[in-house]
Amino acid sequence: MTINYEGRVAVVTGGGAGLGRSHSLFLASRGAKVVVNDLGGSVEGKGSSSSAADSVVKEITDAGGVAAPNYNSVADEAGGAAIIQTALDEFGRVDILINNAGNNIEDSFRKMSMDDFRAVLDVHLMGAVHCTKAAWQHMLDQEYGRVVMTTSAAGLYGGHGLSNYAAAKIALVGLMNSLVLEGRKRGITVNSIAPMAMTRMSKDAMDDKTGPLLKPEFVTSIVGLLASENHKGSGDIISAGAGYYSKIGIVEGAGVYFGAETPPTPDDLANRFDDICDLSEARPHRDAFSSVAESMRNVLRGLKQ
Ligand code: NAI
Repeated sequence: MTINYEGRVAVVTGGGAGLGRSHSLFLASRGAKVVVNDLGGSVEGKGSSSSAADSVVKEITDAGGVAAPNYNSVADEAGGAAIIQTALDEFGRVDILINNAGNNIEDSFRKMSMDDFRAVLDVHLMGAVHCTKAAWQHMLDQEYGRVVMTTSAAGLYGGHGLSNYAAAKIALVGLMNSLVLEGRKRGITVNSIAPMAMTRMSKDAMDDKTGPLLKPEFVTSIVGLLASENHKGSGDIISAGAGYYSKIGIVEGAGVYFGAETPPTPDDLANRFDDICDLSEARPHRDAFSSVAESMRNVLRGLKQ
């Protein structure tokens, strides 16, 4: 059966341009009623305008879909609440939340002001927190929710001049992992995408060869799956761009056991550091307890030998 969102209400933050525009158009084309949120400012997040959200709402309604604009900033708590309230006021519920809004202020860590560091954390991390928090109780009550976080390769692996952006983007993964556990028994899934697409924010990093291949619609396809009712998977990070899709994982290696009686010296650890860092038998963990429990099992196994 073709995936659709009939009867569902979606909120797309930063939905007025780039990836968010593409997500909004797609969800609406498959039956969702969509709140298109966008502050309408610069890449850095300065200024504001209603035109970005309005133009995507017009595209949706011109095509026969249903949408409402919202112009609040995700960066403040009241803004997050107002965005979700728009969904409740206009369409009576909230089923899907795509945390997509983002800004970028690049500088070396040495030169970056704390204001610029916080401004990026406020939009990417706290923006997702504000909107998800405002939607969460409704999703718990209705025992249904689909939340998608937008992380980034730069967040997961780091990038020069991107310390603020990377810190915010990997924090979203920690947020996701905890919400996965809290939403699991109440019909709520939380997943993340690490997109690659040619947009206003990324265009300077693209070249003439790869840029045209990186159409936002290729990223939207995975958002469409993660936002759908029949997809029950939760806690996945999916890298997506230009037709390529892969899972990114946080994994733990098999490790080295030094015994529990006497702590190893730093020299002992230096001698085995390559083995400690060996990921050839690495595995993911369901949660922090599963990681700790596995370490303890290894310790107890070692004690018995
Ligand atoms: P974009 O600049 O085209 O779109 C971002 C949208 O978010 C803009 O319309 C902007 O007005 C809006 N926005 C910014 N601050 C806001 C705020 N405080 N409240 C509400 N809306 C706000 O950029 P793009 O590429 O579409 O980015 C979408 C998301 O994807 C961002 O979270 C970005 O970090 C992430 N991303 C994009 C990549 C790419 O290759 N384009 C790579 C990795 C992550």
